Amino acid sequence: MESNSPIFIVMLGVPGAGKGTQAQRLEEKLGLKQVSTGDIFRDNLRNQTPLGQLAKSYMDKGELVPDDVTIRMVEERLSRPDCAKGAIMDGFPRTLAQADAFDKMLRGKGQKVALVPLIGVTDDEVMDRLTGRRVCRRCQGVFHLMFNPPPPAGECPQGDKSLCDIYQRDDDKPETVRNRLFVYYKQTAPLIGYYFAHGLLAEINGAQAIDKVTSDLWDVLDKAMA
Ligand code: AP5
Repeated sequence: MESNSPIFIVMLGVPGAGKGTQAQRLEEKLGLKQVSTGDIFRDNLRNQTPLGQLAKSYMDKGELVPDDVTIRMVEERLSRPDCAKGAIMDGFPRTLAQADAFDKMLRGKGQKVALVPLIGVTDDEVMDRLTGRRVCRRCQGVFHLMFNPPPPAGECPQGDKSLCDIYQRDDDKPETVRNRLFVYYKQTAPLIGYYFAHGLLAEINGAQAIDKVTSDLWDVLDKAMA
């Protein structure tokens, strides 16, 4: 896949569909930066910034952080040099207002969204995945106790031989996951129609082995960029 102009890929799918897992793999393959709004909020929370405190009050309930705050944050993030070639958007946009603002943001620079892979999985699968998910604070690696076990001590994949620092996200409790799904169907699912109408949607079966999802994703990207 080759292009001279910046490439923006928007990963869409329910919480736990595998957006982050696949975005990390695409980042390596494409050399584009993964921009995860959830990770940016969690970093801010760890560093106890005002943005982190604000985001926590929404994230703990499984609600979305207000659009104006999120849009400003993404605009600032995309202005950094590591996004000059584009980005893999993981968790943004998540509302029609964010999608509209994102289009305007890109249009202002003569750019546009290249493709929107929609990773499909069932709600039951989501519950299994999120309650078993574990994340590394150090390398941001996403693991699953059964499907993708965390590395043994001393083998943090991107942590300069330091140890993985594995934890469970606060919002992966079953009752919060249920509300995140509710919020997804109410506020994010309309983006499926939005991107379909723009001819950008590519549906991927997310209920397959992680490697198979990656190869399907790669196929649709190759076709879209040919
Ligand atoms: P965010 O961090 O973006 O969470 P999310 O969208 O709910 O998505 P997840 O990270 O839970 O799931 P994922 O699809 O990335 O799945 P993963 O690859 O980890 O957002 C968190 C919160 O921040 C939001 O609730 C909101 O409050 C706020 N926020 C973020 N963005 C916002 C925005 N734009 N506007 C407003 N608020 C915003 O995989 C899940 C698990 O499954 C892992 O354990 C993984 O190992 C496993 N797995 C993955 N693929 C497979 C497979 N094929 N087979 C088996 N297991 C698999």
